[in-house]
Amino acid sequence: MAQPPTDAPLAGDTFVVRIEPMDWTFDATPNESLFEAARRSGIRLPTSCRNGTCRACISVLVDGSIRYRVEWPGLSSTEKEEGYLLPCVAVAQSPLVIDVPEAERIEPR
Ligand code: FES
Repeated sequence: MAQPPTDAPLAGDTFVVRIEPMDWTFDATPNESLFEAARRSGIRLPTSCRNGTCRACISVLVDGSIRYRVEWPGLSSTEKEEGYLLPCVAVAQSPLVIDVPEAERIEPR
């Protein structure tokens, strides 16, 4: 029987995500999108479709590792290589630094 990679995040793992340029932070688990995790912590990231197609949420991954909830997020391979990400369908796989100048403080949910 295949075993999961030993460095794969576990369900209970939590990663700190830092938003630049504000230097705000929130916690994200491997079970929620960065958009959902930020909102839970009182931070609104730009969004529209929330399914990885419209690109309204496009941001920059400065540091860290993510995976996508959808097979074909709306980014080209070049954009992925250049560090762009879609927080509405991106899930943290490590501590992250993301650049989202449009982020806003809201009431936590
Ligand atoms: S909100 Fe549409 S791609 Fe993220």
